Amino acid sequence: MLVVNQIADTAGTLFDIEEEICVQHTDGRERNFKILRARQRANGTPLPPERQQSVVLKIPNLSSKEADLIALSFRHELELLCNLKRQEHIVECYGHGTLAHDQRTPYLVLRYVDGQTLKEILQSTTFSCYQMLGIVQQVTLALHSLHQFGIFHCDIKPSNVMLDYHAQKVVLIDFGSARTPEHTSSLGRARTPMYMAPEQDNGICDATTDLYALALVMYEMLTGQPIYDDAEWERLKHSSDLAVLSEKLAQNLSAVAPQHARGLADVLAGCLLWQQGQRRYRQAHSLFQALLDAFV
Ligand SMILES: Nc1ncnc2c1ncn2[C@@H]1O[C@H](COP(=O)(O)OP(=O)(O)OP(=O)(O)O)[C@@H](O)[C@H]1O
Ligand SMILES: [Mg+2]
Repeated sequence: MLVVNQIADTAGTLFDIEEEICVQHTDGRERNFKILRARQRANGTPLPPERQQSVVLKIPNLSSKEADLIALSFRHELELLCNLKRQEHIVECYGHGTLAHDQRTPYLVLRYVDGQTLKEILQSTTFSCYQMLGIVQQVTLALHSLHQFGIFHCDIKPSNVMLDYHAQKVVLIDFGSARTPEHTSSLGRARTPMYMAPEQDNGICDATTDLYALALVMYEMLTGQPIYDDAEWERLKHSSDLAVLSEKLAQNLSAVAPQHARGLADVLAGCLLWQQGQRRYRQAHSLFQALLDAFV
């Protein structure tokens, strides 16, 4: 529950808090970060246009038992987002600072994405093939721009993909688990194992593991059910047989995409093969092209 309505930083910047977004995880777990919608006070000097709008303050919860890990993941996200070349489908970072009332605690200022996460949307509806395609096109553009610099998101899942209704675009958020050429070791932050490729358990995270997770998100967008809810999946996720995987996916997709189930299943299976390596899709744009081909 939010108890303050203003936040100041050590440099004297003042924010009016408008709303606390996502107070708790749906399963009641404490959040690692406070996510606040806020507006910066002008304090005499005119603000740049992006700061005249609502922004998001992302603040690590350093009173958590996992404070060291959270702080590490936050520092990593901050460095990455503040140095990243601007990309339309990656959340924009406007700056960072340190809280005045607790000088140990840093915060990030992000563009406020005026919309919903795929996770929120999927609670009440599913997507048609064409809607899914439009969203995945934008996610693959974001991933392509990261992957070409050796950056891997490593936590692609429905709650980290947002639809910005105001700007009418898809935005990728949450870079606390990302790998960069400078940070190649696992940050060990609790991620969502359900969307992770099996080899991510061993700390492997690369372009194919981001595309693996994206395939699971696509499946869920179409069917409304996470694939891990399917009892057979636990066994199948260790299959390196494309035909077996594709057959299973086609069965599940046939009700929601009867005309395209086979083609879509082949593409998803090409992301979800157990064996990491050459046989999986490695490039975000090849994956999207294959999806398009599945529709002709
Ligand atoms: N820039 C933003 N604009 C609007 N909402 C946002 C923004 N950033 C985060 N959120 C909301 O806050 C939620 C949590 O943000 P984020 O994923 O960055 O934190 P997290 O604690 O790492 O989350 P999780 O562990 O659930 O992945 C998002 O799922 C989204 O609903
Ligand atoms: Mg998240």
